[in-house]
Amino acid sequence: MAKKIGKVGVIGAGQMGNGIAHVCALGGHDVYFMDVEKDRVQAAMQTIDRNMGRQVSRERITEAEKKKALKRIVTGTTPDGFADCALVVEAVTEDEQVKKEVYKELCPVLAPDCLLATNTSSISITRLGAQTDRPGLFLGMHFMNPVPVMELVELIRGIATEPETFETAREFAAALGKIPVSAEDFPAFIVNRILLPMINEAVYTLYEGVGSVEAIDHAMKLGAHHPMGPLELADFIGLDICLAVMNVLHEGLADSKYRPCPLLVKYVEADWLGRKTGRGFYDYSGDEPVPTR
Ligand SMILES: NC(=O)c1ccc[n+]([C@@H]2O[C@H](COP(=O)([O-])OP(=O)(O)OC[C@H]3O[C@@H](n4cnc5c(N)ncnc54)[C@H](O)[C@@H]3O)[C@@H](O)[C@H]2O)c1
Repeated sequence: MAKKIGKVGVIGAGQMGNGIAHVCALGGHDVYFMDVEKDRVQAAMQTIDRNMGRQVSRERITEAEKKKALKRIVTGTTPDGFADCALVVEAVTEDEQVKKEVYKELCPVLAPDCLLATNTSSISITRLGAQTDRPGLFLGMHFMNPVPVMELVELIRGIATEPETFETAREFAAALGKIPVSAEDFPAFIVNRILLPMINEAVYTLYEGVGSVEAIDHAMKLGAHHPMGPLELADFIGLDICLAVMNVLHEGLADSKYRPCPLLVKYVEADWLGRKTGRGFYDYSGDEPVPTR
């Protein structure tokens, strides 16, 4: 039996946290939105305001719905606002140690029946759940970036996740207008397990001189009908994240087919991480992205 979710907590006001708070508030939930960095929450609220504004101008929502949704979000830098939440979604930095510290501080504040979901892209749900006081109420809810636009949520059960927890999360995600897909707790789940090796292969294709950046992206857009070329997409995701996921696949599945391309490693070493640093496989300093190879 699924439980009805009322107030939702979102911890971590980065790229993903703002999108999760956005869709929860639009879905009619009161939201407590927290980050240790005050500036991050303020910047995230501006992003939410801007993104909802875009939805208004495209007539997806009304100005009144936007106003109501923004009012539902309360921000803070301490965990006390999570005390009356029915579900908390953790979207802090992709670092197991950081997440572990967060759970240590968060769990004593939560109601005993509060569900706890992590948005991790790659860390074992079972291992993260074991760091909490509620492995049965813990699961993976992997939203896609950008959250307000992407329909999918991967739901991942840890070994201890109770069926009711999973069912509640499934109904909650569906009520937000998302399409939940169930994935087992294996490295990188479904989407990244398939997508990242394809991106890594595109980098190998570049590295071996089979094609230029432009040729590779054009080929996949025109030949496979992908909306973005794989190198463009890598820059959008962040090359550091692409490398981290490949490392998780390589280590977790111990198969050489997941070996990160040395060129991807070099770009990350150079801090050419894609859009967020202004340079990756494209240079973003001008009006239009320019291929760098
Ligand atoms: N970026 C993506 O495309 C993407 C997609 C799906 C899932 N994810 C996952 O979502 C999670 C967040 O990723 P992101 O890209 O939003 O990261 P991000 O770096 O943009 O944001 C992380 C936020 O966590 C905050 N934080 C760190 N320690 C904290 C603490 N102790 N308490 C509260 N807040 C804390 C940081 O201040 C930062 O604002 C990660 O687990 C990541 O793997 C990311």
